[in-house]
Amino acid sequence: MEIKITKTDRSRLDQVDFNDLPFGQISSDHMFVMEYDGTAWRDARIEPLHSFEIHPSNLALHYGQSIFEGMKASKNQDGVALLFRPELHAERLNASAERMCMPSIDPSNFVEAVSALVQMEQNWIPPEEGSSLYIRPFMYAIDHFLGVRPSITYRFCIITLPVGPYYAKPVNLLASDTYVRAIPGGVGEAKTSGNYAASLYPRKLAMEQGFDQVLWLDGHEFKYVQEVGTMNLFFVFEDEIATPANNGAILKGITRFSFIQILRERGCRVTERPIAIDEVFEAHAQGTLKEVFGAGTAAVASTVGLIAHKDRKIELDTSLTPIAQMLKTEINGLRSGKVRDSRGWTVPVYTPVVA
Ligand code: COI
Repeated sequence: MEIKITKTDRSRLDQVDFNDLPFGQISSDHMFVMEYDGTAWRDARIEPLHSFEIHPSNLALHYGQSIFEGMKASKNQDGVALLFRPELHAERLNASAERMCMPSIDPSNFVEAVSALVQMEQNWIPPEEGSSLYIRPFMYAIDHFLGVRPSITYRFCIITLPVGPYYAKPVNLLASDTYVRAIPGGVGEAKTSGNYAASLYPRKLAMEQGFDQVLWLDGHEFKYVQEVGTMNLFFVFEDEIATPANNGAILKGITRFSFIQILRERGCRVTERPIAIDEVFEAHAQGTLKEVFGAGTAAVASTVGLIAHKDRKIELDTSLTPIAQMLKTEINGLRSGKVRDSRGWTVPVYTPVVA
């Protein structure tokens, strides 16, 4: 793919404090953009970050045809920027695109676009362990038309943002017995904006009661755990590490897949199965619930400190979370090159000149 490059002559890099990186607030200097004209992706380019004009009848604004991915880049000890399993992100973007009637992107073009942008923004990669350059590829409809139909034209962009941890402390969850994120047959498996929009009001109510996030239960019986919206969930029972099975309503997390593989390679019994919220409370009462943590690109492995459901709650000891800690160390180590990548999960984006 040919990528036309226009560099900014006014970098904002010197205004950034790498020791203070609230998630999602600071964007790097450049962005990748290309448009789909109904037949092919065209005009691939990297240019200084800028706003877009949006027509008032834009289809994405009215009917939500919009999808995204979340990835991260870090530097290894030799200063080489590494991507983590970018081909899986390309695959998931295309699965989301298919569900939302949007065009696919050749996975090698996707990886090339991400690599080219990260290579250009490599000085924006924070050096601190646990911080990274968050990469947000996204696609949205650009037709202006008020009838409900798929757009013919689309824009695909990638922006990057230096970030610290998404959750700086253990997360407190309220399991909702009123609101639903997704049901099988809906769009819960797609990484599409509407899933996140649907979560805002229940989360606002949860935050008013002192919780950080909503723990989503299945929409039929409000019985089985799904996910948190910003992360998949893992439950460490005495002799089993369980995570809700993908059932069409749960995001197919790439960190989730990676954790399952790492745990199985270490001999842990990992199950993907329905997990009833009652089972979680019972296990806690019996002392067999050892850890609960979330898995996600932004969240990495974030420990859960409290789960409330109806009139009951459990508090978890977050001072002792060996499984979550091991996974976090492994993933962050792979990203920073401190852990040897025997599985070929990391992809270097450039080769430094060796003197
Ligand atoms: C990610 O982990 O990258 C996500 O996309 C979740 C989020 C909305 C921050």
